[in-house]
Amino acid sequence: MSGAATLRSRGNQVTFERRRTARPVPPRLQLSPRAVRRAHPRESVDSSTFLDAMSLAVTGVSIVTTDGVAGRFGITVSAVASLSADPPLVLASINQRSPACAAVRENGVFCINLLSTQQQELADTFAGRPTHGEPFDFRRPAWSPGTSGSPHFDDAVATFDCVLEQTHEAGSHTLFIGRVVEAIGSTADPLLYTRRAYGRPCR
Ligand SMILES: Cc1cc2nc3c(=O)[nH]c(=O)nc-3n(C[C@H](O)[C@H](O)[C@H](O)COP(=O)(O)O)c2cc1C
Repeated sequence: MSGAATLRSRGNQVTFERRRTARPVPPRLQLSPRAVRRAHPRESVDSSTFLDAMSLAVTGVSIVTTDGVAGRFGITVSAVASLSADPPLVLASINQRSPACAAVRENGVFCINLLSTQQQELADTFAGRPTHGEPFDFRRPAWSPGTSGSPHFDDAVATFDCVLEQTHEAGSHTLFIGRVVEAIGSTADPLLYTRRAYGRPCR
């Protein structure tokens, strides 16, 4: 309870009163009417309402890479997460329309390259919208094969090299669960993504 305390004396009695005061109301986020429309409990919200609301989350930015019989591919993703500590498992969610999706499944290996604040341009290159040069171009910065054979980005904040353990089809995306066979970290600051824009941690 919020409020101010007052001491009152009545005869030889002293009482302690707490007065309720109005709590300051935090400013509400302004969402478009479409974004606040609720679906019937058994229906899904439409995907643009879902994506608008989800764009408010803060994530890191990674490039998921793979190499093997299906060839070398990379895709910029925000949907990666730690799944289990023992055994060490991670997950990455990739749109089935991306050629990287079929390649990870066929190659059976992938590497999550967590990008730093210096690597925004690389994130755009592997999202298919480069500011310079070719999309999905492995030639420009320093890539080398990791333990699994998947490309490691040498200047990444962290790399998680994985052997594919499980896949789950989930709507438009496939969920890849990988067992981590090599993990490397650095002291660089991770690139962030929120409200459809890049950002950096403030300390
Ligand atoms: C910051 C950022 C995060 C993204 N996260 C994902 C993701 O988690 N999963 C995914 O399949 N695509 C994700 N994408 C989109 C893909 O990178 C992009 O659709 C893909 O590279 C194919 O590009 P195209 O649609 O131009 O062919 C993300 C893109 C950006 C810029």
